[in-house]
Amino acid sequence: MRFAKLKTSGNRTTAVITARTFVPWVFRKNRERVHFWGSHMGTTSVVPERQRHTSALASEVRPSAAEAAPDTQRTGMAEAMPLCSVLFATVVCAVLWLSGCRLDMHTQPRYNPLDESSFFGDDKSARPVVAGTVARGQLRTNELLYTGKVNGQFADQFPFPITRDDLQRGKERYNIYCTPCHGQGGEGHGMIVQRGFSPPPSYHIERLRKAPAGHYFDVMTNGFGKMYSYASRIAPEDRWRITAYIRALQLSQWATLEDVPESERRQLQEKAQ
Ligand code: HEC
Repeated sequence: MRFAKLKTSGNRTTAVITARTFVPWVFRKNRERVHFWGSHMGTTSVVPERQRHTSALASEVRPSAAEAAPDTQRTGMAEAMPLCSVLFATVVCAVLWLSGCRLDMHTQPRYNPLDESSFFGDDKSARPVVAGTVARGQLRTNELLYTGKVNGQFADQFPFPITRDDLQRGKERYNIYCTPCHGQGGEGHGMIVQRGFSPPPSYHIERLRKAPAGHYFDVMTNGFGKMYSYASRIAPEDRWRITAYIRALQLSQWATLEDVPESERRQLQEKAQ
C-alpha cells in the first residue's frame, strides 16, 4: 500500500506522506475489518474477497461444533484493531492539523477603536471625515426645510403646506416638548419655570409675534440662550409643525372679530354681551 510519494530534488529523495492517500487507506482497512467481524456475527454478508477465502478455509478445516472458541478470539482481536486504526488516524490528523498551525492573521497590525497612534500627526488612530463628506440619507439641500432660512435670512414661510393634520401633530409635539417651560398657552409659565427654571418670554409679546417662522425653527434646532437644542429629539418636519402650532397659539390671543367667519360673528357678539 502506498501512502507516500517519493520526491527527488538533486540527489536527495524524500518520502512525502499525503493525507489524500493515507487517510482513505486507514478507513478502507477499517471497513474490511468491520465486515470481517460482522460476517461472523451473522449481520452482513459483504466480506472482502481475501477474508471470505480465509473463512471458507477455516470452516473446512474445523468441525462446526468447535468453531465457537477460535471465533470468539478472532472477534475480540478484530474488535480491537479498528479502534487502534481510528486512534492512529486521529493522531495523524492531529499532527497534520498542528503542523498547519500558523499565526497568519491572528495578530494583526490594526487599531482598536479610539486607540492612540504614533503614525498620524494628531496622535489619533480615528481619522476625521474628508471635508464635504455627506452621510447617506443626510444630503440636506433644501435650505428652508433644514435651516429655516432662504438666502441666509430667516424666512417667514413654511417649506410645505400646513394642513389640519400637521397642526394636530404640531400641537401634540408642542405639548410633549415645550409645555414644561412655555406652558400650554405659550405664556412661559410651565411647571419647570414654576419650580425655579429661568422663565422664557411669552410667545405673545410683539417681538416674537413679528419674528419670522424660520426663527422658531432655528431656536428648536440650535437652542437659544438658556434653552437647549431639540434637534436630536424633534425631526425637522415636526419642528415646522410645532412652529405652525405656535402661530396658531399666537393667533388665538390676538385674533380680531374680522378673523372670525361672518356666520359665527353674531354668535360671538351675543356671548360677549
Ligand atoms: C427646559 C425649558 C424649556 C423648554 C422645554 C423649551 N424651552 Fe424654549 N425657552 C426656554 C427659555 C429659558 C427661553 C429663554 C432663553 C433665553 O432668553 O436665554 C426660551 C426661549 C424660547 C423662544 C424665544 C426665543 C427668543 O427669540 O427670545 C422660543 C421661540 C422657544 N423657546 C421655543 C421653544 C419650543 C418650540 C420648545 C419646544 C420644542 C421649547 N422652546 C422648549 C426654555 C425652554
